[in-house]
Amino acid sequence: MSEGTAVTSGDAIENLLSEARTFAPPAEFVAQANFSDEAIFAEAAADPEAWWARWAARLDWMTPFETVLDNSDAPFAKWFTGGELNVSQNCLDRHVAKGHGSRVAYHWEGEDGERRSYTYDDLLDLTERFANVLLGLGVQKGDRVAIFMPMIIELPAAMLACTRIGAAHSIVFGGFASSALAERINDADCKVVITADGGWRRGKQVRLKELTDEALLSTPTIEHCVVVQRLGDQLDHPLGWVEGRDKWWHELMADAAPHADPTPMASEDLLYLLYTSGTTAKPKGLMHTTGGYLTGIVASMEMVFDAKPLTDVYWCAADIGWVTGHSYIVYGPLALGMTSVLYEGAPDWPAQDRNWEIVERYGVTILYTAPTAIRAFIKWGDHLPAAHDLSSLRLLGSVGEPINPEAWMWYHRVIGGERCPIVDTWWQTETGHHMIAPMPGITHTKPGSATHAIPGIDAAVVDEAGEPVPNGHGGLLVIRQPWPGMARGIWGEGGRERYQHTYWSKWPHLYFAGDGAKLDSDGYLWLLGRVDDVMNVSGHRISTMEVESALVEHESVAEAAVVGMLDELTGEAIAAFVTLNDEGSDGRDEAAVRAALLEHVAERIGKFARPRLLVFTQGLPKTRSGKIMRRLLKDIAEGRAIGDTQTLQDAAVVEQLQATVNALRA
Ligand code: WT7
Repeated sequence: MSEGTAVTSGDAIENLLSEARTFAPPAEFVAQANFSDEAIFAEAAADPEAWWARWAARLDWMTPFETVLDNSDAPFAKWFTGGELNVSQNCLDRHVAKGHGSRVAYHWEGEDGERRSYTYDDLLDLTERFANVLLGLGVQKGDRVAIFMPMIIELPAAMLACTRIGAAHSIVFGGFASSALAERINDADCKVVITADGGWRRGKQVRLKELTDEALLSTPTIEHCVVVQRLGDQLDHPLGWVEGRDKWWHELMADAAPHADPTPMASEDLLYLLYTSGTTAKPKGLMHTTGGYLTGIVASMEMVFDAKPLTDVYWCAADIGWVTGHSYIVYGPLALGMTSVLYEGAPDWPAQDRNWEIVERYGVTILYTAPTAIRAFIKWGDHLPAAHDLSSLRLLGSVGEPINPEAWMWYHRVIGGERCPIVDTWWQTETGHHMIAPMPGITHTKPGSATHAIPGIDAAVVDEAGEPVPNGHGGLLVIRQPWPGMARGIWGEGGRERYQHTYWSKWPHLYFAGDGAKLDSDGYLWLLGRVDDVMNVSGHRISTMEVESALVEHESVAEAAVVGMLDELTGEAIAAFVTLNDEGSDGRDEAAVRAALLEHVAERIGKFARPRLLVFTQGLPKTRSGKIMRRLLKDIAEGRAIGDTQTLQDAAVVEQLQATVNALRA
């Protein structure tokens, strides 16, 4: 952790903690809740291993596990060792075997209005055939398969096909640039990449194959590229094709044998890699394994979402490219045999009531979305949800960033009709599943608080010495005991040390999440945002270092400093302070350089990483030892009065920066 940059300003923290409203679970909800007795908190805490073993028993094991938890190589915990299972079998075959094959797994809706429902029978068929396709392409157990796809049914099918044959998938969110895709493919030595000819996003075609082609110019390990035909003759741009390497999904599937037995996987076999940003420029490929991960997902679906497979229509309105989608669009709902909605596009296309139209059309009962989306809905107006029948909803979820009390109250009132509990779920790519969240039939919620750790999870807020803080105090969020869905490390050479160093070096035996938190006087947990150099833009995690290194790569940049600044809509927005090279400075067109730099960041990382505020400056504020003072830059970006500048090398830089930012804002 570098010098602490508290994400939330002092005022915001005070506002949060003066939040006094509490909401008891509605009686009708409690009456039907999966859990309504708070004794389970104590029961789980008394014997966490027995607790998780009971959840693990809900899965189909090909070979029963012998040991629940082996933490002899801490912090690299092993769960359910000796056991063997297959994730696709748990997500598909076992439901079909119980006679639920005709149950809808996904109501899929394309952004362009196309609609189709896929049953568990359908999804199993796609999965088995594609498993054979992968085998035919030479993919073997333990290999890595890269996936760069839109939100279409072939995406979960491809994931499940990987797990069926024991290959690990590495999904790259479709908003990433080609170089980000290439970097991730190369880090994991992926053998095959699966993509599509494109997808729809806000009425525009996302050129996934084109980006993949660019990436594949520098990925020596890729042997084949499988392309789903999503756009077909609607395609508005030329489609590149490399004979021998590129194969159409539908052609391969037409020739594939219909049955593929699920491969037994050891509980600790790799299920997938998912790259996420840390405090360095290099993304980390977090490793998730099989038995523990699926156990934690299933448990949290039932505890936090109160999932009822027979009657719920569940919609997690995230993208499968992020961990939320892995856990709560694909593996969680399928492991329980739920019926879900899978929506390809944007919530404001073709109109800003698209989400409410979808809720009404399918009778969605559980809706899971992000605060940034909720704030956009608020801005678009109450008349939009009011025009739709949302009475099917019974539970609302929030994820990705702290939810501000106003957004919480709006969600509760306008979307939930004051009858739906809200579960604000704190977790991370690293944790695999929910960690801190209300139990909707038990917990009295407070708008803006994620409340408490779920049963079986041991979270605490600690001070610098690693000691728990008393109620009413703030500190850093840690997890004190291993949990089943925890990441098992970081992929690649040096990954073991990197994992240990990143999460476990501040205090021995405590997992440090990177978030600041506070306990209120009732012991409720309030998340206060990251304390490291990680930004959270619309729930997307991105490190300041990644954006900085993209900027300094550009020929006209001498130095760059990037900070997150508070933003009403996206939670945080990216602010960049850039010193340009002297060369070519005569008569330089600043507007053109600005545009070029934004484009460069989009090309290196993705459009979502483009700075909102880009300030050119002669110098950056530094300490006498030469460290860039990010906290100060944050104050400047957020237009706050700045405190003591005595430690600065050059106080004039600060005044000048403030003037520049104010001028840009005016
Ligand atoms: C970071 C993890 C969890 C899936 C989506 C993001 C922030 C996440 C909450 C919440 C406050 C939250 C944290 C965390 N975060 N959920 N309910 N309240 N903050 O996954 O990209 O791994 O990011 O998102 O800062 O560390 P991720």
